[in-house]
Amino acid sequence: MIGRASILTYGCQMNEADSSDIGLALREAGYGLTSAWEQADLVVLNTCAIREKAEDRIKGTLGQLRAVRAKRPWLVVGVMGCMAAQSSEYLEREADFVIPPLAAGKLPEVLAGLPPPPGVGEEAGDLPPLQMEQETEFKRYLPIIRGCDYRCTFCVVPNTRGPEMNEPAEPLLAAVDRMSGAGVLEITLLGQTVNAYRHGEWDFARLLETMARRHPHVSFRFLTSHPRDFTDRVIEAMASNANVMPYLHLPLQSGSDKILRRMKRLYSVSEYLAVIERARAAIPTLAVSTDIICGFPGETEEDFELTLEAVRRLRYDSAFMFYYSERPGTPAVKLGDKIPVQVRKERLARLIEVQKAIQHEVNQRDVASEQRCLVERVSRRDPEVMLARTPGNKSLLVRAPRSTIGSYQRVRIERADSFTLYGEISFQPISAP
Ligand code: SAH
Ligand code: F3S
Repeated sequence: MIGRASILTYGCQMNEADSSDIGLALREAGYGLTSAWEQADLVVLNTCAIREKAEDRIKGTLGQLRAVRAKRPWLVVGVMGCMAAQSSEYLEREADFVIPPLAAGKLPEVLAGLPPPPGVGEEAGDLPPLQMEQETEFKRYLPIIRGCDYRCTFCVVPNTRGPEMNEPAEPLLAAVDRMSGAGVLEITLLGQTVNAYRHGEWDFARLLETMARRHPHVSFRFLTSHPRDFTDRVIEAMASNANVMPYLHLPLQSGSDKILRRMKRLYSVSEYLAVIERARAAIPTLAVSTDIICGFPGETEEDFELTLEAVRRLRYDSAFMFYYSERPGTPAVKLGDKIPVQVRKERLARLIEVQKAIQHEVNQRDVASEQRCLVERVSRRDPEVMLARTPGNKSLLVRAPRSTIGSYQRVRIERADSFTLYGEISFQPISAP
């Protein structure tokens, strides 16, 4: 071992998947991975630029690293991920190397050019190891599309991650075969518009269906779908394969057609509603989540009320809600009728309030049911309570021994609040999905 390295991962699942590649490259370069980043010789920040708040957090950590460097002058700081895609004097000053997502393959070369840390590697062997999301051996992410060809006017991703690139189907199927052979229980297919997948004769429905049929004991999920690309064949693949989990993340963004047009989302509210109606009709246990932005330029009180109305009507199982954050280099920067930040935040608070009440009601539907849940880890509050996930992707707390981590358990849901279900292990034998 030439030294200790840490990876700090921010943002989306795509970054979590990328961090596992970064981890491999660091190990191959001779580093041991530790979660004790204050004591590492090399720290790689895999960054997110989606909203200003994400960037502020990362800048805070870079500030802390500057203080660490005073004590460990050999410390090397690398910035990767979406912030690295936007040239800035600030990053050049704070980091020893900056590698944007499209150049991520350059990492080994960059590492090879670094001076080795001054003989600290050997004695650093007792630091806590880094456990990355991607390393829970029973759950994996598999990127099938990288980048994005849509140009939603608020979004920085097409600038940071570049144009859409679809992986060929054969290596993806081979990767799933390998994971399945290694005992992976759940695979999540990833892409910014995962359901737009296309390569040669393959589209998303065929890819999903083929994977699900070949590996009936593996559960499949996918993120994120774009409403415009959602075909009935995908609904069919979900409905007819019990191991494709009944969960759909479908960003709405706004309930106003006028705002959707200004966002260049390329669907109307009624088209969106029709997709959800068809999916729910075909998959009765379907759980649906969404992303919504409040206070996009031009959003009037009436537009915002249309969003509230859509949310009341759609009754989402969960929602990721944001206030609009202006991102340098995105088309929306040039739009008029900016909404004051205070108003954006007020609208967000109102939306969260409405959705929280809906979620509380919606979650009661799970109460008294029995569901086959994947036990993921020990809960934060109580070492005897495990965090598990339902087929609909809901967090579930259940009293169970640690040895259940990485297994499916049949759980009887006893009660629910807005964000969590609570259950008891049911000792009925469990069958395949
Ligand atoms: N298709 C992508 C979307 C990426 S960003 C995916 O894989 O999830 C995730 C969500 O962040 C978006 O759906 C949007 O609701 C929100 N978002 C993106 N840019 C934003 C901005 N400038 N301000 C506020 N929220 C934003
Ligand atoms: Fe962003 Fe829209 Fe693509 S939200 S990632 S530009 S689909």
